Amino acid sequence: MTAGADGPAPPRIVRFGEVDSTQDLAFTLAADGAGDMTVVIADSQRLGRGRRGRVWHDAPGASLLMSVLLRPRLDVAAWPTFSPTAAVAVATALARVAAIEARVKWPNDVLARGRKLAGILLESRIGAGVPTLVLGIGINLAQRVFPPPLAERATSLALETGATPDREQVLAAVLDELGRWREILERDGFAAVRERWLELADGRGERVTVDGVTGVIVDLDSDGALVLEDRGVRHRVIAGEVREEAAHAARG
Ligand code: BTN
Repeated sequence: MTAGADGPAPPRIVRFGEVDSTQDLAFTLAADGAGDMTVVIADSQRLGRGRRGRVWHDAPGASLLMSVLLRPRLDVAAWPTFSPTAAVAVATALARVAAIEARVKWPNDVLARGRKLAGILLESRIGAGVPTLVLGIGINLAQRVFPPPLAERATSLALETGATPDREQVLAAVLDELGRWREILERDGFAAVRERWLELADGRGERVTVDGVTGVIVDLDSDGALVLEDRGVRHRVIAGEVREEAAHAARG
């Protein structure tokens, strides 16, 4: 099935127990002809991956691990804008389903009280055959403790709300918001998404360093690049990790 004239196709959910990575399964299904909004869900992953070559660990059954196959109705050049679009959709869904204040951190983390609640990985394959986009989402649902490297920076819906969330309810909300924001992106362009992303942005107005570039976060560009300003000069950052410059935090 492909995206129709009336909007994206309804999701088709495919469920697995333990897998290497839902991303790989989504690409395999895509190569076999699976359509837009095929959603791969797993209980746990042996080789879950994050951005920048990192490993994405999960405690079995404690996370929502999903990959969504997208056949965008956008030029390939605009596909990176799916990344902030997905962050807005996930943050909105989590705020809705758990009544928390969820924020987005460039490029596409979702935070609660400054801690990472969900991570997003956008991967494309554009070689021979039909170009394919797979959106991977990992949401911490039921963890009550995290191992040492994550303990200071991660959180879960259970920790934020005191109650273990219903995975199916979270999944339904994420797919609903993804469908909604994706439609806004494809129909109206990135401007509306960008506006909402900026409203939800963590660290806006703060001084940060991203891969050697330092400045105050002032904007998100039309292609999803982060815009930093330093002494009146604007710098675009297209990839990297945002690190807060605590000693130089902007004061107005
Ligand atoms: C990040 O924050 O670095 C992105 C993490 C993305 C993790 C999800 S879990 C489901 C999907 N399958 C993977 O192997 N990775 C993504």
